[in-house]
Amino acid sequence: MRILFLGPPGAGKGTQAGRLSKRIGVPHIATGNMLRETMIKETPLGREVRSCIESGKLVPDDRIIDVVCERLRGPDLAKGYILDGFPRTIKQAEALSDFENQSDMKTDRVIYFSLPEAELVKRISGRRSCPVCSRIYHLLYDPAPQKDVCVCGVQLIQRKDDSEETVVVRFSVYHRETAPVIQYYERLGLLAQVDATQTISDVFSSVCKAAGVV
Ligand code: AP5
Repeated sequence: MRILFLGPPGAGKGTQAGRLSKRIGVPHIATGNMLRETMIKETPLGREVRSCIESGKLVPDDRIIDVVCERLRGPDLAKGYILDGFPRTIKQAEALSDFENQSDMKTDRVIYFSLPEAELVKRISGRRSCPVCSRIYHLLYDPAPQKDVCVCGVQLIQRKDDSEETVVVRFSVYHRETAPVIQYYERLGLLAQVDATQTISDVFSSVCKAAGVV
């Protein structure tokens, strides 16, 4: 099963992708996590990626498209994947469609997480993440069992791009570049919208239903 997760920053895509991945037994591929791994390397590409992420802008299409398509060829993805954070522009969506046509693969479902901006801000400001295993928590809504420490034992961090001023840029980039991708998949008849304002477990039930998982 090949599923794409679309939605604004902080909508709960990573949280739900982790759960669905466990439920259906296919890997969770998150472009944000892939890029954060690249940015910690002190290479010219790593520095370019860091500058994009920390300013809230998208990494240029020509830097991300080939990396993602190459990753989707991985033998561990033969049974499918949950792709979280890609495509984020029309150019990326068209490149993914071309890749699928050439590889005889197809996306089964695109799940769009819908949520008002005020709630997104609350979620982003309370988010804490593990820099090693990428597990996501929230100070109020989904706290770590041991304060500030991941279940894997590593100290949790607040992402630099979760600062108030960067979040404003990320929302504006989302509306300009990513929102049109929703219509792209609606036209292809692949889109399922999920009300992401519910609790984590209720959103998970809606996501399973939208994905056709019982
Ligand atoms: P990325 O890491 O993908 O960030 P994002 O899309 O902005 O999404 P987030 O990770 O902020 O949120 P999420 O929807 O996963 O929510 P989460 O589950 O964490 O990308 C980062 C950057 O990388 C981009 O800005 C860009 O620079 C670059 N990039 C990535 N992909 C790219 C691409 N394709 N092209 C170009 N550049 C790219 O949940 C948020 C919080 O809410 C958590 O604390 C969680 O515990 C809590 N929460 C979740 N669900 C609920 C709920 N139902 N109720 C209450 N709390 C909840």
